[in-house]
Amino acid sequence: MNPGTRIRPAVAADARRIGEIYDEGIGEGDSTFATGPHPPHERETWLATRGDRAPVFCAQGGDRVLGWSALAPFSRRPWFDGVAEYTVYIARDARGTGLGRAMLAHLIGAAPGHGYWKLVGMILPENAPGLALAAGAGFRVVGTYHDHGRIAGRWRDVTVVERHVEAPPR
Ligand SMILES: CC(C)(COP(=O)(O)OP(=O)(O)OC[C@H]1O[C@@H](n2cnc3c(N)ncnc32)[C@H](O)[C@@H]1OP(=O)(O)O)[C@@H](O)C(=O)NCCC(=O)NCCS
Repeated sequence: MNPGTRIRPAVAADARRIGEIYDEGIGEGDSTFATGPHPPHERETWLATRGDRAPVFCAQGGDRVLGWSALAPFSRRPWFDGVAEYTVYIARDARGTGLGRAMLAHLIGAAPGHGYWKLVGMILPENAPGLALAAGAGFRVVGTYHDHGRIAGRWRDVTVVERHVEAPPR
């Protein structure tokens, strides 16, 4: 990550750029089951309704947002309250410089403050950068769901990774 880049909470004015970066990743076909497009008004509502347990962060490089990251509850079931799913999206032209690694490390550091003791990631097996990012941050592969969802009409597998961010409360 370039020394001038900083990670900060997302604000409403980031909605357009977050949507652009998200749609860029969706267009690549191996990042997510989500479908686009995500226009600014849709991302503004998404940002405004997340609350403290689902924070969103942006990587600011000069006057440009280079990537975004987020936590969201893994499940609505209260007994899984301490588990969050993470998301990291880096603009294509800002990848390969350690920014994804920095954003995931930041999420790991922030997660306990939002009430989480474990992070889970859902990564398509074809997503080599996503798997490398998780492995480099100390995530373990739990296993792979087969034909778990469809992207553009084709059934796809998804690999689950997990990492504790602090000891589970006893
Ligand atoms: C996955 C993603 C966030 C990685 O971001 P990035 O800034 O390019 O990653 P970094 O430069 O920080 O590299 C992180 C690790 O991934 C590895 N990596 C990066 N690109 C890679 C590639 N094309 N193939 C294999 N490994 C790769 C790096 O070597 C590094 O490994 P290390 O930590 O062991 O050194 C980025 O590719 C992306 O935004 N993809 C679309 C969204 C997505 O799939 N997100 C993941 C699921 S939430």
